[in-house]
Amino acid sequence: MITSVTLNPCIDETLFVDGLLVHDRNEVRLLEVDAGGKGVNLSRIVAALGGETVAIGFLGGGPGAFIRQVLDRQGVRHSFTELDQDTRTNFIVEDGSGRPPTVFTQRGPDVTEVRWSEFSGSFDSWLRQSKWLAIGGSVPPGLGPAHVVELGRSARAHGVPWFLDADGDLFAEGLKAGPDLIKPNRDEAARWLGHAVKDQQDALDAALRFLEAQSRAGAQDPTAVVSLGSKGAVLARAEGTWVGSPIRVEPKSTIGSGDSMIGAMLHRRCLGETWPEALAWGLAAGAATAMTDGTQIGQRADIERLASQALVNRTS
Ligand SMILES: Nc1ncnc2c1ncn2[C@@H]1O[C@H](COP(=O)(O)OP(=O)(O)OP(=O)(O)O)[C@@H](O)[C@H]1O
Ligand SMILES: [Mg+2]
Repeated sequence: MITSVTLNPCIDETLFVDGLLVHDRNEVRLLEVDAGGKGVNLSRIVAALGGETVAIGFLGGGPGAFIRQVLDRQGVRHSFTELDQDTRTNFIVEDGSGRPPTVFTQRGPDVTEVRWSEFSGSFDSWLRQSKWLAIGGSVPPGLGPAHVVELGRSARAHGVPWFLDADGDLFAEGLKAGPDLIKPNRDEAARWLGHAVKDQQDALDAALRFLEAQSRAGAQDPTAVVSLGSKGAVLARAEGTWVGSPIRVEPKSTIGSGDSMIGAMLHRRCLGETWPEALAWGLAAGAATAMTDGTQIGQRADIERLASQALVNRTS
């Protein structure tokens, strides 16, 4: 089973407008309300592909109840710790220009020490049943990188490999705890490296640097993927490096493509496939999600169809 942790989930409200006018009136053509958060998305892809998963973390109030309903409807098992304050809502404006959306985010509700220890108890029992742990997204007020490190260390102590998807300080600090798998995108990789990732060669160099950092931090059998959006992804392991070519699709919104990529990869790993085989499914799931509107994630039929077109080549 794949356990996903989303410490700061959200409701995503996507407003579709025809051209965004700042300081003016905008008519909303369509409003979509969806459950969001990196771990939540990852679990949704695993469930859509028929894999076993549970989504855990924190939810609160009416928005929390809404997210539980969405997950129930989609057949995604969940076991969130209830908070006293409401789960946050993020607003996404898709202006039809084909350019990235305008996003408004909130910090999220407070997590107190009491709620953290409640969560920790539930976390341990799910961990014992897990083949993989995936921790994704930001931390809410009250929590910091040390809490993420604590979860990662606990996974290692239980012999469960863990994946970390984070940005900035949280990523840098989490990396020091030695995650077994990471998948920074081009910008996240550049922020950690301190220089731009311009092409495939830069991405391969970056992936090897990440792999080294993971090993140094104690990961036994690490894997680093650097994703390049419409340009595909690269994969580095101790025994070699691979390049995954992009699958050509008509992109609508790439929000969640990275979460989908890793959800599919971990699912295929649980089925016993090699890392490069799993990457092919990751490319397919990322592309399938890019084909959907707003925050929607890829559909199983599209992922399966695109997986047969995916190309992964060894480079060293
Ligand atoms: N426009 C696209 N066309 C084809 N494949 C895509 C496209 N966008 C993304 N993908 C696939 O999805 C993978 C992950 O995408 P990306 O690099 O955008 O992740 P990300 O920035 O982490 O996304 P998020 O954090 O929103 O989930 C890419 O490596 C690629 O395989
Ligand atoms: Mg991402």
